[in-house]
Amino acid sequence: MKLTLKIWRQANAQAKGSLTTYPIDGVEGDMSFLEMLDVLNEQLIEKGEEPVVFDHDCREGICGSCSLQINGEPHGPDRLVTTCQLHMRKFNDGDTIVIEPFRAKAFPVIKDLMVDRSSFDRIQQAGGYISVNTSGNTIDANAIPVEKEAADDSFNAATCIGCGACVAACKNASAMLFTSAKVSQFALLPQGRVEATRRVLNMVEQMDKEGFGNCTNTGACEIECPKGISLENIARMNREYLAASFKG
Ligand code: SF4
Ligand code: FES
Repeated sequence: MKLTLKIWRQANAQAKGSLTTYPIDGVEGDMSFLEMLDVLNEQLIEKGEEPVVFDHDCREGICGSCSLQINGEPHGPDRLVTTCQLHMRKFNDGDTIVIEPFRAKAFPVIKDLMVDRSSFDRIQQAGGYISVNTSGNTIDANAIPVEKEAADDSFNAATCIGCGACVAACKNASAMLFTSAKVSQFALLPQGRVEATRRVLNMVEQMDKEGFGNCTNTGACEIECPKGISLENIARMNREYLAASFKG
């Protein structure tokens, strides 16, 4: 396949960025999107030009690093896949592909296609954990009964990989889907109820502090989420937040 890539190049957070056009030849349908970018970068290095900076790690759809806006969609045209699991067979010979970083005030560009998503880490640090006594009298987790449905819903919420596609898809750059997944995975389990009130208040407060927008129920986040995180988590977080606000 021959393709035309229009890639966002930006030297650093302060610099003004712009789209640069790169023709690329010999792209195979079996290549992943990141492998196609690797080929481009090899060609740029051979020509003595600066390679395109993009984030990646596992390349297995697990780590959530590979966050690219491809033709206006987070993680590209496929559903329930990350950019690293997107294959070039989804594109046609002669296509032009526009590749940009995830755009949100709370995700400042570091360079080219790489953004700083440490705002997500700070939301996690605000309450995305449980405290367990490990002094020798710890209760075995399996000794605490958990309903099957609650266990399944908690597990599904826990599959959020923190990629940020939900924020990039949202017209308000809201982080409600991410935060609600992190709140839900604990709110549904007895082990998570101990700190539930403090957790939801602190995580929502941090989310607002980071500059993410509000949820207006558009649902774009759920459609673009590579892990199929459901909007039900946002409804659950709102209920948790309301109850926690009354408790203080
Ligand atoms: S909710 Fe989905 S889109 Fe948002 S960070 Fe988690 S995995 Fe990514
Ligand atoms: S590189 Fe880890 S999810 Fe894509």
